[in-house]
Amino acid sequence: MAFEAFEQQFEILLEEKLRKYPNSSDYLRHAFLRSIASQIELMVARLRTEIDKDDAYWENYEQVVSDVLSVMGMESDQLLSIVVSDLPHGVRDFETIKEKLYDTTAYPSQEHLYYRNFEPALERLRFISKQLKKLDERDMQFCDLGFGPGVLTQFILEEKPAWTACGVDISPECVRYAEKLMKLKGVNESVQFTTGDVRNLPYADNTFDLVLAMEVLEHIPDPLKGLLEVVRVLKPGGYAITSIPVRLPIPMHLYVPQNPREVLDLYERANLEVLDFSAKEFKMETGSFVATFALSMTAPTPKGVDFR
Ligand SMILES: C[S@@+](CC[C@H](N)C(=O)[O-])C[C@H]1O[C@@H](n2cnc3c(N)ncnc32)[C@H](O)[C@@H]1O
Repeated sequence: MAFEAFEQQFEILLEEKLRKYPNSSDYLRHAFLRSIASQIELMVARLRTEIDKDDAYWENYEQVVSDVLSVMGMESDQLLSIVVSDLPHGVRDFETIKEKLYDTTAYPSQEHLYYRNFEPALERLRFISKQLKKLDERDMQFCDLGFGPGVLTQFILEEKPAWTACGVDISPECVRYAEKLMKLKGVNESVQFTTGDVRNLPYADNTFDLVLAMEVLEHIPDPLKGLLEVVRVLKPGGYAITSIPVRLPIPMHLYVPQNPREVLDLYERANLEVLDFSAKEFKMETGSFVATFALSMTAPTPKGVDFR
């Protein structure tokens, strides 16, 4: 139906030219319709690939979309109508990105939706899951920096019900959203979210056993400043789980490392000992980038412990 209405609109637009220049406008009309048809064919093929995915894929998709709809109190069509608009061209300063992106109501829901099928986001969960298997301490206190929708905090609290969490995000909209998500998932008693900047954390030195900073350090122009805060609030021998993308120059990334070595150097400068590091390439329609993930520690690793 939408397509017929579009076609009619196209005819109305061309009406006058068709009378005056019948051959060229008729040619233009057919060329345009053909191009639309080939675009639709491509979209159908893409949809078919998605439909053919297995049950695990669909179960995760269903869960994520249901959670987002519940938190937002919306139906799918309402959710789709509040998509985050693109940042104005050339915007590269943190305050404008915060105002136009992080502080919008739609932002945390869009970040949450990545977890339905976006491989780099799912890889974050896999990496954390792998590290959690090694961290079997009871009663750990962890802090999730730049928690966004709160998916990773929720995941850890579900995996480790005895742990407690704090979280800091620059966006009050993310705090509101993540609090609702924690309530929906029944883990809200174990977590305290607050607004704040990763470069100036509202915590005393030596507070946490584990700090998470996934896909946040590249959002500030001075990632070392954030990383030094991670180290400051970690207890001696505390762990950091971090992820930083390489060669992903999207507008909100104010730090764009060019290779995994650069990321490793950053950890070294912050005095973090990297215990496990992975760099994985993801091919996107817009090009490819490398996602890096690290488990690090603030003090030398005890002898005989193999974290790889
Ligand atoms: C790409 S999202 C990542 C969300 C989450 N860590 C995840 O992996 O799902 C980046 C988040 O960092 C937050 N952020 C950006 N700059 C920040 C800063 N200086 N301090 C704290 N949070 C920040 C944004 O509001 C956003 O929620």
